[in-house]
Amino acid sequence: MFITFEGIEGSGKSTQAILVEEYLSAKGLKVNLTREPGWGKLGELIRNVLLDDREITLDPFAELCLFCTDRVNHVKGYIKPKLDNGEIVICDRYHDSTLVYQGIGRDNERDLVAAMVMKSCLGVIPDITFLLDLPVNCGLQRIGARKNKTKFDSESVAFHKRVRDGFLELCKQQPQRIKLINADRQVEIIAEEIKSVIDNKIN
Ligand code: TYD
Repeated sequence: MFITFEGIEGSGKSTQAILVEEYLSAKGLKVNLTREPGWGKLGELIRNVLLDDREITLDPFAELCLFCTDRVNHVKGYIKPKLDNGEIVICDRYHDSTLVYQGIGRDNERDLVAAMVMKSCLGVIPDITFLLDLPVNCGLQRIGARKNKTKFDSESVAFHKRVRDGFLELCKQQPQRIKLINADRQVEIIAEEIKSVIDNKIN
């Protein structure tokens, strides 16, 4: 089973991904928690260029290409082998992030982004995606205190609003796969809701 977590900055998806990993591991299942961008040596280099190195400014298309390169490397080297082995993979951000951040947040041609994103998945699409949704001002407030802000964290409020709306639009298009979760609640309450969706899926 392949589970992904998506949402704007400060939506708490990384915390929830860890809780799901603990929950499923406690059931005796083999679970692998990973994230994008940044798997492996190539992923680390790409992550640094995309998120941290402020001396490098990327054209929107170049940025799209790098996220797709990172994904191909991640799917081929890690995600697919684990799934083929019958293990569970939980990924903190995956292809929906590229569709939304590069396709809607940035000025890229949407059809081109969609085509490249589908290619970059190498046929590996999540079974369930949790979209942790909350108002942009709440998310930005939560990350306000973070020390190591990425280039994306520092984007405009308008950018983050486009991203949030983009995720919500995707969710409307694919309600079977993408579960909308109200992230403006206590961690434990959100975790319970996510667990019950996963339990239903497992059963
Ligand atoms: P990260 O530091 O991993 O933080 P978080 O996932 O907690 O927000 O930052 C990853 C950033 O990269 C995030 O701002 C979203 C962005 N991103 C894209 O723009 N496109 C993508 O395809 C992916 C996977 C991430």
